[in-house]
Amino acid sequence: MPRPSSIIRSAGRMARRLRAMRLQWDGTGVTIHSSKAGGPKPGTAADGSEESALSGTGLEAGLRMLDGRSILVTGGTGSFGRRFVETVMRHARPRRVIIFSRDEFKQYEMQQRMPAEWAPTLRYFIGDVRDRERLNLAMREVDFCVHAAALKHVPAAEYNPMECIHTNVYGAENVVRAALSAGVRRVVALSTDKAANPINLYGASKLASDKIFIAANNLSGALDTRFAVVRYGNVVGSRGSVVPLFRKMVAEGADHLPVTDERMTRFWITLQHGVDFVLSCFAMMQGGEIFVPKIPSMRIADLARAMAPELPQKIVGIRPGEKLHEVMITEDDSRQTYELTDRYVIEPAFAFWQHAPYERLNARPVADGFRYASDGNDDWLDGERLRALLAETP
Ligand SMILES: NC(=O)c1ccc[n+]([C@@H]2O[C@H](COP(=O)([O-])OP(=O)(O)OC[C@H]3O[C@@H](n4cnc5c(N)ncnc54)[C@H](OP(=O)(O)O)[C@@H]3O)[C@@H](O)[C@H]2O)c1
Repeated sequence: MPRPSSIIRSAGRMARRLRAMRLQWDGTGVTIHSSKAGGPKPGTAADGSEESALSGTGLEAGLRMLDGRSILVTGGTGSFGRRFVETVMRHARPRRVIIFSRDEFKQYEMQQRMPAEWAPTLRYFIGDVRDRERLNLAMREVDFCVHAAALKHVPAAEYNPMECIHTNVYGAENVVRAALSAGVRRVVALSTDKAANPINLYGASKLASDKIFIAANNLSGALDTRFAVVRYGNVVGSRGSVVPLFRKMVAEGADHLPVTDERMTRFWITLQHGVDFVLSCFAMMQGGEIFVPKIPSMRIADLARAMAPELPQKIVGIRPGEKLHEVMITEDDSRQTYELTDRYVIEPAFAFWQHAPYERLNARPVADGFRYASDGNDDWLDGERLRALLAETP
């Protein structure tokens, strides 16, 4: 018969062990987080209150997380940033949205276009992601951060390699450090299909950035800051993309459209889909994942035909640094990849803490050797879908 004092001692040991394991109940399952693994506690708000990181996996859950919170968007004046800010302002009730970028004129233009009643919530912060001190100032009291600032023009990166590295790689490191110092809760960094098996510096710099954000979860320690990456393909109609180029050529009376290669394929995503996907990842992320949306593919030649059926196409050949097909998940990534209804999740190769959330969402591991590439997709945009997509693209 154990003595009462030893029962009290073992009850105390059990309570300490349970606290150390941080058992969390979110209504649908239990997530066990071992503090020995050294990672942050999933779903703990900055004010110490508990909420599940997986209380919802959809857009609505992501939006509701932003209510009453401060959000910073690096590259907030870019194609993604503007749509992200508009979506959040329309569908959430944030306390503050900070638009962080370098060019005052782009910020001024954005300010002019935004409804006047949003003005008290929006803050335009001039800054460069290369400048860590400025980022430290911008991130004070920020809860959520989307890192969208980047140099993304492939030939410009080849011609000015160190400029690309300073913004895309050192900039990523600065965002990580500033977010850790400020105790930002969630950071999502935007990546690109060009970062998977990269063949140009832009892709390689984004791969380095992805690695920096994923490894940043190692640095959070007892903090609540978590980092994840969203990787997707070409955004229809974004600055510098092929749709505005073809439109301009057609409007100026071109006698043909240039097509790099009849076989060339690309993934395509709309701006709104990209924004909604990032928002949903805020609700789903545990830290260290690369989220990849399931999106359709198209042939560049079909796009040219859909935009100008009467114009002949001239094959101009693949440019240096371009791939015939893009890949988002390589065979080597497949070992850590789970499939959900609307996305793939590449789990970190090194587990920062113990979590098993994706099985609960009916995720299943993909087959060994699986590859998600624009030519092997089972969802294709034919002429009709392309025309519908183009009609919605400003
Ligand atoms: N567009 C696509 O097809 C696509 C596809 C996949 C992934 N992505 C990724 O999505 C993200 C956003 O792309 P986007 O299409 O929105 O690009 P974008 O329209 O070119 O916008 C880039 C934004 O970053 C800002 N920026 C550039 N350098 C900066 C610096 N050093 N410091 C602070 N801000 C800086 C720009 O403003 P200032 O010049 O005024 O600083 C601008 O606000 C990028 O990370 C890109 O790699 C894009």
